[in-house]
Amino acid sequence: DRVQYYRYKGIPLPSHLVPEDMDAIQDFAVRDDDVFIVTYPKSGTAWLQRIVSLLRFGGDVSKTDLKEQDKLVPYFEQKCGDSATFRELPEAPSPRLLKSHLNFSHAPVQLAQGKGKVIYVARNPKDLAVSYYHFHFMVTTLKNPTSWEQFLQDFINGEVSRGAWHDHVLGWWEQKDSPNVLFLRYEDLQKNTRKQVGKVAEFLQWPVTPEVIDKVVEQSKFQKMATNPATNKVEGKEAKAGIFDSSKGTFLRKGIVGDWKSHFSDEQSQWFDTFYQEKLGPTGLQFDFE
Ligand code: PPS
Repeated sequence: DRVQYYRYKGIPLPSHLVPEDMDAIQDFAVRDDDVFIVTYPKSGTAWLQRIVSLLRFGGDVSKTDLKEQDKLVPYFEQKCGDSATFRELPEAPSPRLLKSHLNFSHAPVQLAQGKGKVIYVARNPKDLAVSYYHFHFMVTTLKNPTSWEQFLQDFINGEVSRGAWHDHVLGWWEQKDSPNVLFLRYEDLQKNTRKQVGKVAEFLQWPVTPEVIDKVVEQSKFQKMATNPATNKVEGKEAKAGIFDSSKGTFLRKGIVGDWKSHFSDEQSQWFDTFYQEKLGPTGLQFDFE
């Protein structure tokens, strides 16, 4: 495989996230009205990008869909061209809406000091592993898995880009009571999108009416996003930059809870249950798996 990861402070990262940038990120000047959507990959990032963009523009798709979503809510640490996104941000107008996959220990220090707002989204590790597995075939900066079994082993061992899922999630879970952090779960979004959208609006202190919430819920549905060129990434900025190969997979793949059942053997399922019960049990963080 021509793709290599390197370790930054112990965590495997793809080589486009260069150490100079990772160092500079820690000193990034956060503004109070910055909104960071932070996730371990495949946890519902794009869904939150859509919800936050719609809330920002009162549910008006003529405004949100002028630009593709990844330009409206850019990927903070990504280098897609000459320089990483965050290097351009000092010139960007407020409020800056951003997405990031940074571990808490790699994030701008000012976020930990209470500046800006963080919406963290977590997803159950079985569905996430399935989603991440498929994603590896379509993204040119990730290693092609040799098999499903091998991928699961690497995932559990933290030998994938962004390292161990439980370290990422628990690092941010520890911050869940900070006033500038909102911790959400993908499965709750599925169960009651309206309620979670309301929580996001309240957290951001952006005034909304019930009609606006209706529009946000409607326009952020999986089917809507899958057929919308502003959100489906088929011909988006990453596809153009050669980071996504849309012939190898679909970004908006299934969008359900419980797809793990069509991939995991009973043995693999038990292995995950035991492993993550040990990691998460003492922390109080729990997930729905169906
Ligand atoms: S990334 O690459 O990290 O930004 O990916 P991310 O957006 O975090 O995760 C992609 C998965 O989220 C699903 N998705 C959705 N599910 C339900 N509703 C909506 N609106 C939605 N939008 C994205 C997407 O389909 C990926 O999950 P899988 O299981 O692969 O389908």
